[in-house]
Amino acid sequence: MTTMKAAAMQSFGGPEKINISDLPVPAIGPGEMLVRMKSASINPIDWKTMLGKVKILIQYPFPLVPGSDGAGVVETIGPGVSRFKVGDRVYFRPGKDRIGTFSQYFVVRETEAAVFPSKLSFDEAASLPLAGLTSWQALDLANVKAGDQVLIHAGAGGVGALAVQLARARGAIVTATCSAKNADFVRSLGATNIIDYRTEDYTSGGKRFDFVFDTQGGKETNRCMDVLKPGGMVVSIANPPDPIEAVKFGRPWYVKLLLQLANIAPNRAARKRGVQYRALLMDASSSQLEEMAKLIEKGSLKPVIDKIFPFAETRDAIAYQMLGHSRGKVIIHIED
Ligand SMILES: NC(=O)c1ccc[n+]([C@@H]2O[C@H](COP(=O)([O-])OP(=O)(O)OC[C@H]3O[C@@H](n4cnc5c(N)ncnc54)[C@H](OP(=O)(O)O)[C@@H]3O)[C@@H](O)[C@H]2O)c1
Repeated sequence: MTTMKAAAMQSFGGPEKINISDLPVPAIGPGEMLVRMKSASINPIDWKTMLGKVKILIQYPFPLVPGSDGAGVVETIGPGVSRFKVGDRVYFRPGKDRIGTFSQYFVVRETEAAVFPSKLSFDEAASLPLAGLTSWQALDLANVKAGDQVLIHAGAGGVGALAVQLARARGAIVTATCSAKNADFVRSLGATNIIDYRTEDYTSGGKRFDFVFDTQGGKETNRCMDVLKPGGMVVSIANPPDPIEAVKFGRPWYVKLLLQLANIAPNRAARKRGVQYRALLMDASSSQLEEMAKLIEKGSLKPVIDKIFPFAETRDAIAYQMLGHSRGKVIIHIED
């Protein structure tokens, strides 16, 4: 096997630029595994990358194959791989230096993958890594613990539907925003209070939170700060990340400067209010995926899938996710 099918594009653009193409099967190095992909999930970072919106931070080569997480079967292991064997069913979010899970094969480091619980299908497992790790890391950053009051924006979304469950699993009391049609669904995930973001203003009720998960960014961020208790924390995943990310990506000094400038206003707004602000860019982590697997086994975390598309319909799948109203995750089913 030397070639594989991959959803590739030759230049930046929307889903129409994607073609299922023949590309070489990638080679593995030390500490890496070749995974035969079964399913991948779509994350907004995929189409933002396709549109060229993240090229200041990282430049992936063309042909560009999007896809930032997924699940599959270990086909081959490289030298030094000790925690996995051929045939293991793994789920993963690769390091940010590589993308391309919308393909038949993908090379992942063993430090980025974990075996997923046998009760999950590949589609279910693929729905969890990027969105789950993002939620996990945001909750860790804010040290969310039992009894904390937390507000999660877009509780029905790909990230939010997992964040509600993970916050609840820590014993936090969850308020979530969503539209009226999703209210019962988000309650069923563990939210105690629901705010319909289309008809209600979450800043007007007088309720104060220890942690607000800002999945919207922009002008919404200051409003998130307005509903924090003194010393509380907003973690935003929709604003320019902390300047440290420019260093991590090995980007030139001016990229770090741009991120520093972008972070001045929210940091100043937080200081003025006596609260904390962090802009998170999530990282790969096999150990956190293992912890999530334990919660799945216990029944405290369930995958939430909106729609599954066959591999041949990758364009339609991405276009659907781009509408911004999915309930949970959109999945590309690559192979049975
Ligand atoms: N920094 C990072 O590391 C990182 C990681 C993951 C994601 N992100 C970012 O986080 C954001 C969310 O990602 P996602 O995967 O959860 O997106 P998503 O699945 O596309 O979010 C869709 C959900 O957002 C809801 N929604 C839309 N506008 C809303 C509003 N004003 N208030 C509350 N809910 C609203 C929709 O609800 P209705 O259908 O009810 O309208 C829908 O359920 C994206 O910008 C993504 O790029 C960043």
